[in-house]
Amino acid sequence: TGTRSMTDKPRVWVSRPTFPGVIARLEPHFEVTVEDTERKLGPSELAARLAGQDAVIVGLKDRIGAAEVGAAERLRIVANLAVGYDNIDVDAMSAAGIAVSNTADVLNESVADYAWALLLGAARRMTAAERWLRAGHWHATEFKAWLGTDVRGRTLGILGMGRIGQAIAHRAVGFGMPVIYHNRSPLPEEVERACRARHVDKAQLLGESDFLVLALPLTPRTRHAIGAAELALMKPTAMLINIARGGIVDDAALAAALRDRRLAGAALDVFEGEPKLHPALLTLDNVVLSPHIASATTETRRAMTSLAVDNVLAMFGHGPHAGRPPNILNPNVL
Ligand code: GLV
Repeated sequence: TGTRSMTDKPRVWVSRPTFPGVIARLEPHFEVTVEDTERKLGPSELAARLAGQDAVIVGLKDRIGAAEVGAAERLRIVANLAVGYDNIDVDAMSAAGIAVSNTADVLNESVADYAWALLLGAARRMTAAERWLRAGHWHATEFKAWLGTDVRGRTLGILGMGRIGQAIAHRAVGFGMPVIYHNRSPLPEEVERACRARHVDKAQLLGESDFLVLALPLTPRTRHAIGAAELALMKPTAMLINIARGGIVDDAALAAALRDRRLAGAALDVFEGEPKLHPALLTLDNVVLSPHIASATTETRRAMTSLAVDNVLAMFGHGPHAGRPPNILNPNVL
């Protein structure tokens, strides 16, 4: 990299295929390299890719800490293609003077929709019924087959009432569900009123929720926020929905609770150690499973890519937010 002249364009590396038309917005200003597969790179491969880059756009599969950026002397920004950023050691980036951005806000509505899809799917046993149908078991329509549970009048609990949690709460009005939530600090009163949600402590949330949706980030504090002890506080008729991050739930404890019917059901989009799953989850019929797709609509994944591109452009004085990257998580480095 020492041989590059001052007139060379800065370099951007994109760790995965995304939307070429969106990435093309970088091309007037940067020399762009895009990985053409979704293969997960190991730490030393990742470090080698980052060396010599001025900016990178990465995803959750890319774990980036001090070691990975050790040789990346020119790197000014790591733009994450996700709202959650537990894959990035932000303190290490700050220490190295590297900005980190995420894709907050543009995915709130898609993720909230998907949380409801999971909630309703679990309540109505949709995926188990479909597996049964596809397996050729549907020979007669039985009046009492596949009975699910209504959601109207049931209590929706939300753990982690940020922007996504609030978007989930807003939708509860139409389903006639009262909403309780727990956050480290309660929301301002007008925000609570707007989403008709009541703050409770965590034990109350666990004990009173009929459907408990997790919408909090994974941090060292929230790892296994739902473990055996928390599951034991939930109603045996309750269902747990995780659209947040694997690792917030102790999947082994959850699988045991579902197996023993100490918990009626679950719907999970994220897993500890994904794309691997705890094998017991695959054997249970009272859990809806999906492969981390809560934000996966064409519109939203395109918007996430566009926001990552805007952050990179802005960092180098270009684009609609020139000089003011919109989603910097460690603004102290700017
Ligand atoms: C996806 O999991 C995200 O954090 O955006």
